[in-house]
Amino acid sequence: MSALTSVNHITVIGSGTMGSQIGMVAALSGFETTIIDIAEDALQRAREQLESRMARDVEKGRRTQSEVDEAFTRLDFSTDRDAVVAGTDFVIEAAVEDLSIKRKLFAALDQIAPPHAILATNSSNIVSSRIADATSRPEKVCNMHFFNPVLVMKAVEVVAHPGTSQDTVAITAALAEAMGKQVIHVHKEIPGFVANRLLAALRKEALQLYSDGVVSFEDIDIAAKSALGHPMGPFELMDLVGIDVAYMIRLAEYEQTGDPESLPNPELKKLYDAGRFGRKSGQGWYTYASAT
Ligand code: 3HC
Repeated sequence: MSALTSVNHITVIGSGTMGSQIGMVAALSGFETTIIDIAEDALQRAREQLESRMARDVEKGRRTQSEVDEAFTRLDFSTDRDAVVAGTDFVIEAAVEDLSIKRKLFAALDQIAPPHAILATNSSNIVSSRIADATSRPEKVCNMHFFNPVLVMKAVEVVAHPGTSQDTVAITAALAEAMGKQVIHVHKEIPGFVANRLLAALRKEALQLYSDGVVSFEDIDIAAKSALGHPMGPFELMDLVGIDVAYMIRLAEYEQTGDPESLPNPELKKLYDAGRFGRKSGQGWYTYASAT
């Protein structure tokens, strides 16, 4: 735990599905935390969703009211990125999966953050060596990859690029553990890392079986659950993770591999183009009573 003495305040960039829950877990784990977004309404939505998740956890006896109240006193929401980052110890970026946006963002964070601060990205597909050289502290840049829903899933992949220091890896892994997570150390940069590559193989086959007309997507989900014991089928999981996220992950991989096999399946593209982003938009593969 000594590796962590330098971390008191955590900044999470992005208040989407991942960023908001990463921030909540950090605050629940005792860290002063600020979630940053460009838009007030996005922050407001994140706050409301977290409040209702926490209320449900208290109602179900999973957490106590005082634990939750204390966590909310440690959790801030802000649009004033620069003021927050100037006083932070650790940044977890959970913004959009777009390389040029991330590079610009990291260059800006590097200008503002204190010299000791680590700049980690939650990206599942963009390896940190592609971002680190936009900063003057490449040794303090790495991937710290959480899984959706972050409040529930125990894994965090910690991925160093060749220039990441051992200290950065140690602090990032210690932070993940302090957040109650189990660390998977990935030794080589590879788009998708480990868990997502396993998932991508399944998802790819599922989309192919569906687009070939072999079987409905609903029945593929049933097969994954009732024949393989998965907690969710691949289509339900795409809706949970976000159709936009699943789509952007494919594009980011294609951008790195140049292999047409990496491109999104046309059926996935159809949903993306129609703005059917999954649970968060109320419609994806399935239709939901309300957006969550
Ligand atoms: N956010 C927070 N907590 C959630 C949640 C969410 N979106 N969905 C469910 N939960 C929690 C709640 O505590 C819920 O209890 P509640 O309904 O009483 O509030 C509890 O989980 C159980 O939920 P459900 O009864 O609805 O459903 P399940 O028992 O099936 O559990 C699940 C839900 C934990 C999401 C489970 O289905 C699961 O493990 N699914 C697989 C998830 C997975 O594979 N994640 C990895 C995705 S890949 C990824 O994230 C990589 C990234 O790069 C994109």
